[in-house]
Amino acid sequence: MKPLRHIPRFSLTSSILLSFSLSGFSQNAVNEKCPITGRAANPKCTTKYEGETYAFCSGKCCKEFTEDRHNSIYHKIGGAAAVNATIDLFYTKVLADKTVNHYFDGVDMKKQHKRQKAFVSAALGGPKAWTGKDMRKAHLSLELKESDFNAIAGHLQKTLQELKVKEELIKQVMAVAASTKDDVLNRKKKSAK
Ligand code: HEM
Repeated sequence: MKPLRHIPRFSLTSSILLSFSLSGFSQNAVNEKCPITGRAANPKCTTKYEGETYAFCSGKCCKEFTEDRHNSIYHKIGGAAAVNATIDLFYTKVLADKTVNHYFDGVDMKKQHKRQKAFVSAALGGPKAWTGKDMRKAHLSLELKESDFNAIAGHLQKTLQELKVKEELIKQVMAVAASTKDDVLNRKKKSAK
């Protein structure tokens, strides 16, 4: 009789165990591609941020991601909780403003809150990239004026002030908002000198 070790049972068992552990890791991670390089992520190379697991192709990328998160405006203002509170209060102000609220007639505001939270999170350096429409396309049909943009930016600024965000961080958030202005108003981008 052949010794047991020649029977392929061992490799079958180990491959089942391996596939279980790998799929277990993959299920935990929110991404399959490394957010830094775009290459396939190694499911064993992960870190947690705001309770979610992110996977990377290498330890170097994991370190870069962690540093980027730590240094981001998103992190400094208080992460997802702060962005959620900001957008909820911001839209209360926008919808109470007769000069701009008509633009939102017929818009599904539940979806709008969700999309705006995702956009603002990404724009401020949150962990997930924005996958929605680009700002020019999203606003093209609205034919917005400079005064509309300024009203919206004003509501954002007041919201952040009411939520007691530090003035220095408010300035940084407003600079990010201003960087979308040419797209939102469908104007030519000013070329960098
Ligand atoms: C700081 C500048 C702005 C940012 C960052 C911004 C961001 C966004 C985002 C992320 C969306 C969702 C895009 C998608 O569907 O994937 C959106 C849609 C929309 N935005 Fe803005 N927005 C800005 C300015 C404005 C202004 C000035 C107005 C009007 C006064 C406006 C009115 C709308 C409306 C009505 C929609 C919904 C369009 C639709 O569902 O058809 N936005 N915006």
